[in-house]
Amino acid sequence: MTLFDRVFSGNDAVYALTENAIDDAIKKYGEDKAVKFPDTAYSLPCYYAVTGTKVADLKGLKEAHGVVKTLMTREPRLNDAFMSGVATALCAEFIEVLKYIDGAVPYEEPLYGHLPDAVIRELGVPLVTGDIPGVAVIIGGAPTTEEGVALVKSYQAQGILVTLVGEIIDQCAEAGYKTGANVRVIPLGKDITSVIHVVSVAIRAALIFGNIKPGDANALMEYTMKRVPAFVNAFAPLDDVIVACGAGAIALGFPVVTNETENIFKVPKSLIVQPDVSKFNATSLEARDIKIKITNIDIPVAFASAFEGEIIRRKDMQVEFDGSRVDCCELVKAKDMNEVEDHKIELIGPDLDEFEVGSKHSIAYIVEVAGKNMQPDFEPVFERKFHSYINCMEGVMHTGQRDMIRLRISKDAFDAGLRAKHIGEVLYAQVKNEFEAVVDKCQVKIYTNEADCTRIRHEVAIPAFDHRDERLSTMTDESVPVYYSCILCQAFSPSHVCVVTPERLGLCGAVSWLDAKATHELDPNGPCQVITKEKMIDERIGEYEDVDESVKRLSQGALEEVSLYSIMEKPMTSCGCFECICGIEPFSNGVCITNREYAGQTPLGMTFPELASMTGGGVQTPGFMGHGKHFIASKKFMKAEGGIERIVWMPKDLKDQVADRVNETAKELYGIDNFCDRIADETITTDPEELVAWLTEKNHPALSMEPMI
Ligand code: SF4
Ligand code: NI
Ligand code: NI
Repeated sequence: MTLFDRVFSGNDAVYALTENAIDDAIKKYGEDKAVKFPDTAYSLPCYYAVTGTKVADLKGLKEAHGVVKTLMTREPRLNDAFMSGVATALCAEFIEVLKYIDGAVPYEEPLYGHLPDAVIRELGVPLVTGDIPGVAVIIGGAPTTEEGVALVKSYQAQGILVTLVGEIIDQCAEAGYKTGANVRVIPLGKDITSVIHVVSVAIRAALIFGNIKPGDANALMEYTMKRVPAFVNAFAPLDDVIVACGAGAIALGFPVVTNETENIFKVPKSLIVQPDVSKFNATSLEARDIKIKITNIDIPVAFASAFEGEIIRRKDMQVEFDGSRVDCCELVKAKDMNEVEDHKIELIGPDLDEFEVGSKHSIAYIVEVAGKNMQPDFEPVFERKFHSYINCMEGVMHTGQRDMIRLRISKDAFDAGLRAKHIGEVLYAQVKNEFEAVVDKCQVKIYTNEADCTRIRHEVAIPAFDHRDERLSTMTDESVPVYYSCILCQAFSPSHVCVVTPERLGLCGAVSWLDAKATHELDPNGPCQVITKEKMIDERIGEYEDVDESVKRLSQGALEEVSLYSIMEKPMTSCGCFECICGIEPFSNGVCITNREYAGQTPLGMTFPELASMTGGGVQTPGFMGHGKHFIASKKFMKAEGGIERIVWMPKDLKDQVADRVNETAKELYGIDNFCDRIADETITTDPEELVAWLTEKNHPALSMEPMI
């Protein structure tokens, strides 16, 4: 059989299976039965992206199945094979969506199945920063459990997001290997059709970030090929169905590496035979052109971004440092050159082996840096990275920041030889690595004596934090000479530009004006460029001639004019990785805000993924704005439309997080006390009529403001 025959035969088999499954479902439920995946605005995502048609019920699914047939041409040409691969993928999506009928929960721990839109949005930043350098799709069973687990581990250690389909999931389970989205190893499902759930992620990325028009299959495939760094590892034996799925992967630009040697045909750079499973990793990275940043740190446990989300339970912990109970803190201090000895790591106090198993202690670590170009403004920028640095150590969990930190060390990490000084090694190596442009020398002092920690926290750290906060609170858009651009997200959203100002951080929530400034100093030709703001056009909406010019240049002409403070007039664009989305609520003259973590309804009749799909891809959409959480309490939030007074609804959790600052701003701007008490949430209502009644009762200021439209 030729490769073409195998693809066509696999495609035919899946097509027939799908037909039966749809017909059975129609018999059982009737053709009006709704079909959809949970928590996505793009149902069914793959079919919608390829054809531009949404499918809502079984009748639509049956029609879609007919449309798929038109892709299944049978000439022995590459294009026919690719399109049959795509057809196979679409059939897989149909089979999978049938599993979700009637709100069923077809996948249970440790399996994931369909992944919500919110997960894709969360992946945006780590993918553009290279923190997640690629996405591996592993299908089938490795020759041995050991080889399978070793392959998964090798990708995980590189920060690559690993998705698993079929027997490899059992192999990981058999070896007791920890899986889960928090450690970047995601078992999708046991059936081959579950592979569609990762394909769906790649395809929705194109819709969410890339502004690809649904139905433009060529643009879609070009986007995934150029911008989604995914690849497939498929273990022998490959049946025709897997081969057909592989053709679909290749059509999207994802190379397939396999150890199948019989009855397979190599396609350069696309279908690669690698009989040695231990070389899958290297072969795949080379085929997809993925470069891994190597960080060699001298510690006895692994160090990789995949471990950032690792959770250490009480029963697994050796010791804990808990800043909520005892005095703890972490601090960066800029020093003079002669005060710092490079790579000096000092432990002052007892080491981990002097503590009882399961006990709680104080810890304080101070990282002292010196460099000709170092500025005190960079201290908080480095310090905020500690959370991620320390979390990347396997077997170490870090939460919080400043003097509210908590660290847990696992028994496994302790048994592997991990001691306090290794925390210092990690901080040293990472600070030097990432900030080498401004840090010439770096030393770390770790204190574990209670008395030292108390003294340092109260006499050194807290005064330093207070001093910084004071500086931050006096820093306004007017008080700084320049703003900064951030174009990191252009890797996925080619025309998106964030304009970062002191009072408006990047919409991902991860880039403040100080961060952008530091990024610029560290890499003057990098993603953050200086934007001058000397030629004001309109103070009300915050528009400047020079900001417009910069945005035009940085978006390659896609964007001509942008305002900093308006949601209605020339609003800033969104990429897709925003923390929150704000949309106008016409009945109350206000706006509703919802955040990624909140899965429920809003009074706009849309959930976060649905609202989020209204904007993105670097396009201006008046009435909708993606933004960071921190921006909500800013005096510049929708200033042109009246500011935070317009906020009428937020999820309760989000409201609790921002309440203190929002109340403070409302008091200052409008003289309103406890403004958050007048903002509704889901525990009050998600119905627009009830909302207006409730707001009226609370005398919400938005009701008497001018309509926004
Ligand atoms: Fe992306 Fe904007 Fe955040 Fe930069 S600031 S990473 S462009 S969302
Ligand atoms: Ni104290
Ligand atoms: Ni983004």
